[in-house]
Amino acid sequence: MSSSHEKVEKNIGVMIVLIALVISLGGLAQIIPLMFQAEAIEPLPGVEPFPALELAGRDVYVREGCVGCHSQMIRTLRFETERYGHYSLAGESVYDRPFLWGSKRTGPDLARVGARYSDDWHRVHLINPRDVVPESNMPGYPWLEEAMVNGNQVQRHMRALRRLGDPYSDEDIEAAPEAVAGQTEMDALIAYLQGLGRHAPRTR
Ligand code: HEC
Repeated sequence: MSSSHEKVEKNIGVMIVLIALVISLGGLAQIIPLMFQAEAIEPLPGVEPFPALELAGRDVYVREGCVGCHSQMIRTLRFETERYGHYSLAGESVYDRPFLWGSKRTGPDLARVGARYSDDWHRVHLINPRDVVPESNMPGYPWLEEAMVNGNQVQRHMRALRRLGDPYSDEDIEAAPEAVAGQTEMDALIAYLQGLGRHAPRTR
C-alpha cells in the first residue's frame, strides 16, 4: 500500500515545496497579527510628538550614530529593570521615527536617562566623556557646541512628520524656528536626552 505520505517522502521536489509552504504559513501566522497590533497601539498618556528643540536633538543623535553604542529599549528582565527603570512600552515610542531601540550596548541603555544627570553633566560628558567618567571609551563630540540648529530645517522636518500622521498643530510648526533660535546642536541633543523616559511609568 503506498500512502500519500510515502509519495511525499520519496519525492524531494514535492517535499521541498510542502516544507516551504508550511514554514511560510507559520511565519505569516506570527507576523500578520503583529502588523494589526502595531496599527492599534495608542500613545501613553502625555506622549506627544517631539517639541522642536528635542526633534532637532534627535536628528543630531541619529546623525552622530549614538544608536551604534546605545540602545533605547529596556527588556522585561529583572536585572534590566533594576538597573534602568521600568521596561520599555510600545506606547512611549509611537512618535519615534525612525525608531532608535538599537541592539548594541557598548554604553548603557538610554531609554530612562532623562533627568538622571544635570544639563551641565551632559555638556561636559559629551565634549569629553573622560572628564566625568575616567574609564569611558565613548568618543567626544565637541563640535556640537559650535554648530547652530537650523530652524527652517526643523520646521520642514515637522511638516514631513505631520504628513506621516504626527499631530503637530499649525502653531507648533509656525513657532519652530523661534523655539530653536540661538540654540546649538549641543543644547538640542541635551534637551532630547533629558526628555528620554519622561513618560515611563514610575517604578521608584
Ligand atoms: C563607541 C561607543 C559610543 C558611542 C558612539 C556613544 N557612546 Fe555614549 N557611552 C558609551 C559608553 C561606553 C558609556 C559609559 C561610560 C560613560 O558614561 O562615558 C556611555 C555613556 C553615555 C551616557 C551616560 C549614560 C548613563 O546612564 O550613565 C550618555 C547620556 C551617552 N553615553 C550619550 C551618548 C550620545 C548622545 C552619543 C552620540 C552623540 C553617544 N553616547 C555615543 C559609548 C558610546
